[in-house]
Amino acid sequence: KSVEGLLLGLKRRLPQLEADVSVLEQEDDGDLYGTVSLQVIENELSEIQNLIDKLNSTTHSHQRLNTDTAEQVRSLTGDQTLFFSRRCLKYFTLAMVIVTGPNTYSVTEYGASYAYGSWGRDPKPAAGKESWFWIVPLTSSNVFSNFVRLYSSLSSLVVGVSVPGTVAIHPSNPTTNTIQGPNVVMYGDALYYNCYNKDAVCRFNITAKTVTTVGLPKGTGFNSKFNFCHLDACYGYTDMDLATDESGVWVIYSTPDNFGNLVLAEVIPESPPTLGRTWTTSAHKRAVTNTFMACGVLYATRYLSKEAEEIFYSFDTVSGRERYDIGMEIKKMSTNIQSLNYSPVDHMLYAYSDSMVVSYKVNFG
Ligand SMILES: *[C@@H]1O[C@H](CO)[C@@H](O)[C@H](O)[C@H]1NC(C)=O
Ligand SMILES: *[C@@H]1O[C@H](CO)[C@@H](O)[C@H](O)[C@H]1NC(C)=O
Repeated sequence: KSVEGLLLGLKRRLPQLEADVSVLEQEDDGDLYGTVSLQVIENELSEIQNLIDKLNSTTHSHQRLNTDTAEQVRSLTGDQTLFFSRRCLKYFTLAMVIVTGPNTYSVTEYGASYAYGSWGRDPKPAAGKESWFWIVPLTSSNVFSNFVRLYSSLSSLVVGVSVPGTVAIHPSNPTTNTIQGPNVVMYGDALYYNCYNKDAVCRFNITAKTVTTVGLPKGTGFNSKFNFCHLDACYGYTDMDLATDESGVWVIYSTPDNFGNLVLAEVIPESPPTLGRTWTTSAHKRAVTNTFMACGVLYATRYLSKEAEEIFYSFDTVSGRERYDIGMEIKKMSTNIQSLNYSPVDHMLYAYSDSMVVSYKVNFG
Protein backbone atom coordinates (compact mmCIF):
# COMPACT_ATOMS: atom_id res chain seq x y z
CA LYS A 1 0.00 0.00 0.00
CA SER A 2 2.82 2.33 0.90
CA VAL A 3 4.66 1.55 -2.33
CA GLU A 4 1.50 2.26 -4.33
CA GLY A 5 1.20 5.60 -2.57
CA LEU A 6 4.79 6.45 -3.42
CA LEU A 7 4.29 5.46 -7.06
CA LEU A 8 1.14 7.52 -7.33
CA GLY A 9 3.03 10.47 -5.86
CA LEU A 10 5.80 10.05 -8.42
CA LYS A 11 3.33 9.93 -11.28
CA ARG A 12 1.67 13.12 -10.07
CA ARG A 13 4.87 14.99 -9.28
CA LEU A 14 6.93 14.35 -12.38
CA PRO A 15 4.64 16.15 -14.87
CA GLN A 16 4.37 19.04 -12.40
CA LEU A 17 8.15 19.18 -12.08
CA GLU A 18 8.57 19.24 -15.86
CA ALA A 19 6.01 22.05 -16.09
CA ASP A 20 7.84 23.99 -13.33
CA VAL A 21 11.16 23.64 -15.14
CA SER A 22 9.67 24.99 -18.36
CA VAL A 23 8.20 27.97 -16.46
CA LEU A 24 11.63 28.61 -14.96
CA GLU A 25 13.15 28.57 -18.45
CA GLN A 26 10.95 31.49 -19.41
CA GLU A 27 12.07 33.63 -16.45
CA ASP A 28 15.06 35.92 -16.15
CA ASP A 29 18.01 34.16 -14.56
CA GLY A 30 18.83 36.91 -12.07
CA ASP A 31 15.26 37.48 -11.03
CA LEU A 32 14.28 36.78 -7.44
CA TYR A 33 11.28 34.69 -8.37
CA GLY A 34 13.43 32.64 -10.70
CA THR A 35 15.71 31.96 -7.76
CA VAL A 36 12.85 30.95 -5.54
CA SER A 37 11.39 28.62 -8.16
CA LEU A 38 14.81 27.12 -8.64
CA GLN A 39 15.11 26.27 -4.97
CA VAL A 40 11.66 24.74 -5.00
CA ILE A 41 12.55 22.70 -8.10
CA GLU A 42 15.88 21.57 -6.69
CA ASN A 43 14.19 20.45 -3.55
CA GLU A 44 11.52 18.66 -5.55
CA LEU A 45 14.23 16.93 -7.58
CA SER A 46 16.03 15.67 -4.52
CA GLU A 47 12.80 14.48 -2.92
CA ILE A 48 11.86 12.58 -6.07
CA GLN A 49 15.33 11.07 -6.09
CA ASN A 50 14.74 9.96 -2.50
CA LEU A 51 11.43 8.39 -3.50
CA ILE A 52 13.14 6.51 -6.31
CA ASP A 53 15.88 5.26 -3.99
CA LYS A 54 13.28 4.17 -1.47
CA LEU A 55 11.25 2.35 -4.12
CA ASN A 56 14.35 0.72 -5.52
CA SER A 57 15.34 -0.64 -2.14
CA THR A 58 11.77 -1.70 -1.28
CA THR A 59 10.80 -3.74 -4.30
CA HIS A 60 12.15 -5.32 -7.46
CA SER A 61 8.87 -5.53 -9.34
CA HIS A 62 8.94 -1.83 -10.08
CA GLN A 63 12.48 -1.78 -11.44
CA ARG A 64 11.35 -0.94 -14.96
CA LEU A 65 9.37 2.11 -13.86
CA ASN A 66 12.22 3.16 -11.59
CA THR A 67 14.68 3.08 -14.46
CA ASP A 68 12.43 5.20 -16.69
CA THR A 69 11.74 7.66 -13.87
CA ALA A 70 15.40 7.86 -12.93
CA GLU A 71 16.22 8.72 -16.55
CA GLN A 72 13.60 11.49 -16.52
CA VAL A 73 15.05 12.96 -13.32
CA ARG A 74 18.60 12.74 -14.66
CA SER A 75 17.65 14.68 -17.79
CA LEU A 76 15.98 17.40 -15.69
CA THR A 77 18.97 17.64 -13.35
CA GLY A 78 21.28 18.12 -16.31
CA ASP A 79 19.05 20.88 -17.69
CA GLN A 80 21.06 23.95 -18.80
CA THR A 81 18.63 26.41 -17.23
CA LEU A 82 19.02 24.80 -13.83
CA PHE A 83 22.77 24.86 -14.25
CA PHE A 84 22.93 28.58 -15.01
CA SER A 85 20.27 29.60 -12.48
CA ARG A 86 22.19 27.85 -9.75
CA ARG A 87 24.97 30.41 -10.19
CA CYS A 88 22.49 33.23 -9.58
CA LEU A 89 21.30 32.06 -6.16
CA LYS A 90 20.86 35.09 -3.95
CA TYR A 91 20.55 35.23 -0.21
CA PHE A 92 19.13 38.04 1.85
CA THR A 93 21.97 38.87 4.18
CA LEU A 94 20.61 40.82 7.08
CA ALA A 95 21.22 40.90 10.75
CA MET A 96 20.79 37.74 12.80
CA VAL A 97 18.26 35.67 10.94
CA ILE A 98 18.39 34.80 7.27
CA VAL A 99 15.41 32.99 5.81
CA THR A 100 15.59 31.50 2.32
CA GLY A 101 13.09 29.59 0.29
CA PRO A 102 10.44 28.34 0.26
CA ASN A 103 12.32 25.09 0.22
CA THR A 104 9.22 22.97 -0.12
CA TYR A 105 5.57 23.73 -0.57
CA SER A 106 2.71 21.39 -1.16
CA VAL A 107 -0.98 20.88 -0.65
CA THR A 108 -1.80 18.24 1.94
CA GLU A 109 -3.99 15.18 1.49
CA TYR A 110 -6.89 17.43 2.58
CA GLY A 111 -6.53 19.63 -0.51
CA ALA A 112 -8.05 23.07 0.06
CA SER A 113 -10.49 21.88 2.73
CA TYR A 114 -8.86 23.40 5.80
CA ALA A 115 -7.47 26.91 5.61
CA TYR A 116 -6.20 26.85 9.20
CA GLY A 117 -3.77 24.41 10.68
CA SER A 118 -0.17 23.69 11.44
CA TRP A 119 2.51 21.19 10.58
CA GLY A 120 6.09 20.37 11.35
CA ARG A 121 8.52 18.01 12.94
CA ASP A 122 9.11 17.01 16.54
CA PRO A 123 12.48 18.52 17.61
CA LYS A 124 12.80 15.90 20.36
CA PRO A 125 11.31 12.80 18.74
CA ALA A 126 10.82 9.42 20.39
CA ALA A 127 13.20 6.67 19.21
CA GLY A 128 12.24 5.46 15.74
CA LYS A 129 10.21 8.60 14.96
CA GLU A 130 13.16 10.80 13.94
CA SER A 131 11.98 11.39 10.38
CA TRP A 132 8.28 11.74 11.20
CA PHE A 133 6.20 14.77 10.29
CA TRP A 134 2.80 15.82 11.59
CA ILE A 135 -0.19 17.90 10.49
CA VAL A 136 -3.03 19.32 12.56
CA PRO A 137 -5.74 20.70 10.24
CA LEU A 138 -8.44 22.70 12.04
CA THR A 139 -11.36 20.62 10.78
CA SER A 140 -14.20 22.44 12.52
CA SER A 141 -15.00 26.11 11.70
CA ASN A 142 -11.30 26.92 11.11
CA VAL A 143 -11.01 26.86 14.91
CA PHE A 144 -11.02 23.33 16.34
CA SER A 145 -9.45 19.94 15.78
CA ASN A 146 -9.49 16.68 17.70
CA PHE A 147 -6.58 14.78 16.15
CA VAL A 148 -3.01 14.86 14.89
CA ARG A 149 -2.10 13.14 11.61
CA LEU A 150 1.35 11.49 11.44
CA TYR A 151 3.62 10.71 8.47
CA SER A 152 6.79 8.64 8.43
CA SER A 153 8.60 11.14 6.15
CA LEU A 154 8.19 14.41 4.27
CA SER A 155 7.62 12.49 1.03
CA SER A 156 4.77 10.51 2.60
CA LEU A 157 3.19 13.74 3.78
CA VAL A 158 3.45 15.26 0.30
CA VAL A 159 1.90 12.23 -1.40
CA GLY A 160 -0.69 11.92 1.38
CA VAL A 161 0.28 8.50 2.70
CA SER A 162 -0.18 8.66 6.46
CA VAL A 163 1.33 5.36 7.56
CA PRO A 164 1.37 5.84 11.34
CA GLY A 165 -2.09 7.36 10.77
CA THR A 166 -4.30 9.55 12.90
CA VAL A 167 -4.07 9.82 16.67
CA ALA A 168 -7.36 11.08 18.12
CA ILE A 169 -7.50 13.21 21.24
CA HIS A 170 -11.26 12.73 21.67
CA PRO A 171 -14.00 11.37 19.38
CA SER A 172 -16.01 14.63 19.63
CA ASN A 173 -15.06 18.04 18.27
CA PRO A 174 -15.15 20.50 19.91
CA THR A 175 -15.25 19.36 23.50
CA THR A 176 -12.99 19.43 26.58
CA ASN A 177 -9.30 19.23 25.56
CA THR A 178 -10.02 19.95 21.87
CA ILE A 179 -7.29 21.79 19.99
CA GLN A 180 -8.30 25.44 19.67
CA GLY A 181 -6.49 27.71 17.22
CA PRO A 182 -3.76 26.91 14.70
CA ASN A 183 -0.47 27.56 16.53
CA VAL A 184 0.23 24.02 17.71
CA VAL A 185 3.63 22.32 18.18
CA MET A 186 4.90 18.81 18.74
CA TYR A 187 7.73 18.27 21.24
CA GLY A 188 8.98 15.16 23.03
CA ASP A 189 6.26 12.98 21.44
CA ALA A 190 3.52 15.26 22.76
CA LEU A 191 1.30 17.91 21.21
CA TYR A 192 1.15 21.35 22.89
CA TYR A 193 -1.81 23.63 22.11
CA ASN A 194 -4.38 26.09 23.41
CA CYS A 195 -7.07 23.98 25.13
CA TYR A 196 -10.68 24.41 24.10
CA ASN A 197 -12.38 27.39 25.73
CA LYS A 198 -9.63 27.85 28.34
CA ASP A 199 -6.74 30.20 29.17
CA ALA A 200 -4.45 27.19 29.36
CA VAL A 201 -1.94 25.13 27.42
CA CYS A 202 -2.84 21.47 26.89
CA ARG A 203 -0.29 18.73 26.38
CA PHE A 204 -1.49 15.58 24.62
CA ASN A 205 0.82 12.60 25.16
CA ILE A 206 0.87 10.72 21.82
CA THR A 207 1.79 7.39 23.43
CA ALA A 208 -0.38 7.44 26.54
CA LYS A 209 -3.15 9.44 24.80
CA THR A 210 -3.65 11.50 27.93
CA VAL A 211 -3.98 15.25 28.34
CA THR A 212 -2.36 17.39 31.04
CA THR A 213 -2.72 21.16 31.27
CA VAL A 214 -0.99 24.25 32.60
CA GLY A 215 -3.01 27.40 33.24
CA LEU A 216 -1.74 30.80 32.06
CA PRO A 217 -1.81 33.90 34.33
CA LYS A 218 -5.16 35.47 35.15
CA GLY A 219 -6.31 37.81 32.39
CA THR A 220 -4.51 35.96 29.58
CA GLY A 221 -6.53 36.32 26.37
CA PHE A 222 -8.35 33.33 24.89
CA ASN A 223 -11.38 32.77 22.60
CA SER A 224 -10.14 35.40 20.12
CA LYS A 225 -9.49 38.20 22.62
CA PHE A 226 -5.88 38.91 21.58
CA ASN A 227 -5.40 37.66 18.04
CA PHE A 228 -2.64 37.98 15.47
CA CYS A 229 -3.79 40.57 12.89
CA HIS A 230 -2.84 42.74 9.96
CA LEU A 231 -4.62 45.85 8.67
CA ASP A 232 -7.33 43.97 6.77
CA ALA A 233 -8.13 41.09 9.11
CA CYS A 234 -7.38 39.13 12.24
CA TYR A 235 -6.67 35.43 12.45
CA GLY A 236 -9.32 33.93 14.71
CA TYR A 237 -8.43 32.06 17.89
CA THR A 238 -4.72 32.84 17.68
CA ASP A 239 -4.51 34.05 21.30
CA MET A 240 -1.90 31.45 22.15
CA ASP A 241 1.09 30.66 19.98
CA LEU A 242 3.14 27.61 20.98
CA ALA A 243 6.75 27.53 19.79
CA THR A 244 9.80 25.27 19.91
CA ASP A 245 13.51 25.98 19.66
CA GLU A 246 16.84 24.52 20.85
CA SER A 247 15.87 24.95 24.49
CA GLY A 248 12.34 23.51 24.45
CA VAL A 249 8.75 24.73 24.37
CA TRP A 250 7.49 28.32 24.69
CA VAL A 251 4.11 30.01 24.74
CA ILE A 252 3.45 33.51 23.39
CA TYR A 253 0.25 35.20 24.55
CA SER A 254 -1.11 38.58 25.61
CA THR A 255 -2.72 40.22 28.63
CA PRO A 256 -4.50 43.51 29.45
CA ASP A 257 -1.82 44.09 32.14
CA ASN A 258 0.76 44.24 29.34
CA PHE A 259 -1.56 46.46 27.21
CA GLY A 260 -2.24 43.74 24.62
CA ASN A 261 1.47 43.38 23.88
CA LEU A 262 3.25 40.05 23.47
CA VAL A 263 4.19 38.08 26.57
CA LEU A 264 6.62 35.17 26.33
CA ALA A 265 6.87 32.26 28.77
CA GLU A 266 8.81 29.02 28.97
CA VAL A 267 6.77 25.83 29.18
CA ILE A 268 8.64 23.32 31.33
CA PRO A 269 7.86 19.81 30.08
CA GLU A 270 7.33 18.23 33.50
CA SER A 271 4.35 16.06 34.46
CA PRO A 272 2.12 18.03 34.47
CA PRO A 273 3.78 20.86 32.49
CA THR A 274 4.52 24.10 34.33
CA LEU A 275 5.42 27.67 33.37
CA GLY A 276 9.01 28.87 33.73
CA ARG A 277 10.46 32.33 33.24
CA THR A 278 8.23 35.03 31.69
CA TRP A 279 9.11 38.19 29.74
CA THR A 280 6.89 41.11 28.73
CA THR A 281 7.56 42.93 25.44
CA SER A 282 6.49 46.18 23.78
CA ALA A 283 5.34 44.51 20.52
CA HIS A 284 1.60 44.92 20.09
CA LYS A 285 -0.07 41.61 19.37
CA ARG A 286 -2.57 43.00 16.84
CA ALA A 287 0.27 44.45 14.76
CA VAL A 288 1.89 41.01 14.51
CA THR A 289 0.83 38.16 12.18
CA ASN A 290 2.78 35.37 13.89
CA THR A 291 5.81 34.60 16.06
CA PHE A 292 8.46 31.92 16.40
CA MET A 293 11.45 31.20 18.65
CA ALA A 294 15.00 30.38 17.56
CA CYS A 295 18.04 30.15 19.84
CA GLY A 296 16.23 31.82 22.73
CA VAL A 297 15.18 34.77 20.57
CA LEU A 298 11.53 35.60 19.89
CA TYR A 299 10.81 36.77 16.33
CA ALA A 300 7.58 38.41 15.14
CA THR A 301 6.27 38.80 11.60
CA ARG A 302 3.98 41.33 9.97
CA TYR A 303 2.01 41.41 6.73
CA LEU A 304 3.64 43.34 3.87
CA SER A 305 1.66 42.20 0.81
CA LYS A 306 0.00 39.11 -0.63
CA GLU A 307 3.46 37.99 -1.73
CA ALA A 308 5.58 38.82 1.29
CA GLU A 309 5.63 38.68 5.07
CA GLU A 310 8.36 40.42 7.07
CA ILE A 311 10.21 39.31 10.19
CA PHE A 312 10.36 42.81 11.66
CA TYR A 313 10.85 42.31 15.39
CA SER A 314 13.01 40.31 17.79
CA PHE A 315 13.32 39.93 21.55
CA ASP A 316 16.43 38.31 22.99
CA THR A 317 15.67 36.44 26.23
CA VAL A 318 19.35 36.54 27.27
CA SER A 319 20.02 40.29 26.90
CA GLY A 320 16.40 41.46 27.17
CA ARG A 321 17.03 43.57 24.07
CA GLU A 322 14.18 44.36 21.63
CA ARG A 323 14.73 45.26 17.99
CA TYR A 324 12.29 46.59 15.41
CA ASP A 325 14.77 46.68 12.52
CA ILE A 326 15.11 43.04 11.50
CA GLY A 327 13.70 43.66 8.00
CA MET A 328 13.83 40.04 6.81
CA GLU A 329 11.28 39.29 4.09
CA ILE A 330 9.69 35.90 3.61
CA LYS A 331 8.23 35.04 0.21
CA LYS A 332 4.77 33.59 0.58
CA MET A 333 3.05 30.96 -1.57
CA SER A 334 -0.38 32.23 -0.51
CA THR A 335 -1.78 35.39 1.13
CA ASN A 336 -2.07 34.28 4.74
CA ILE A 337 0.17 32.44 7.15
CA GLN A 338 -1.92 30.80 9.87
CA SER A 339 0.96 29.23 11.77
CA LEU A 340 4.72 29.49 11.83
CA ASN A 341 7.21 27.51 13.88
CA TYR A 342 10.94 26.83 13.94
CA SER A 343 12.44 23.37 14.15
CA PRO A 344 15.95 23.28 15.65
CA VAL A 345 16.66 19.78 14.27
CA ASP A 346 16.74 20.87 10.64
CA HIS A 347 16.84 24.68 11.04
CA MET A 348 13.61 25.04 9.11
CA LEU A 349 10.62 27.31 9.52
CA TYR A 350 7.35 25.44 9.04
CA ALA A 351 4.42 27.55 7.84
CA TYR A 352 0.81 26.59 7.23
CA SER A 353 -0.51 28.96 4.59
CA ASP A 354 -4.15 28.83 3.38
CA SER A 355 -4.19 25.00 3.50
CA MET A 356 -0.69 24.64 2.00
CA VAL A 357 2.32 23.42 3.92
CA VAL A 358 5.46 25.48 3.28
CA SER A 359 8.97 25.32 4.72
CA TYR A 360 11.90 27.75 4.72
CA LYS A 361 15.57 27.37 5.55
CA VAL A 362 16.83 29.49 8.45
CA ASN A 363 20.46 30.60 8.80
CA PHE A 364 22.00 32.84 11.41
CA GLY A 365 24.28 35.65 10.26
C1 LIG B 1 18.59 0.24 -7.92
O1 LIG B 1 19.51 -0.41 -7.07
C2 LIG B 1 20.49 -1.20 -7.79
C3 LIG B 1 21.31 -1.96 -6.79
O2 LIG B 1 21.66 -1.16 -5.67
C4 LIG B 1 21.34 -0.24 -8.67
O3 LIG B 1 22.29 -0.96 -9.39
C5 LIG B 1 20.41 0.50 -9.63
O4 LIG B 1 21.15 1.44 -10.37
C6 LIG B 1 19.31 1.21 -8.87
N1 LIG B 1 18.35 1.77 -9.83
C7 LIG B 1 17.96 3.05 -9.81
C8 LIG B 1 16.95 3.44 -10.84
O5 LIG B 1 18.38 3.86 -8.99
C1 LIG C 1 3.87 9.97 27.80
O1 LIG C 1 3.42 8.76 28.30
C2 LIG C 1 4.41 7.75 28.35
C3 LIG C 1 3.72 6.44 28.71
O2 LIG C 1 2.92 6.59 29.87
C4 LIG C 1 5.49 8.18 29.33
O3 LIG C 1 6.52 7.20 29.39
C5 LIG C 1 6.08 9.51 28.87
O4 LIG C 1 7.01 10.00 29.81
C6 LIG C 1 4.98 10.54 28.70
N1 LIG C 1 5.52 11.77 28.09
C7 LIG C 1 5.39 12.98 28.65
C8 LIG C 1 5.98 14.11 27.88
O5 LIG C 1 4.82 13.15 29.71
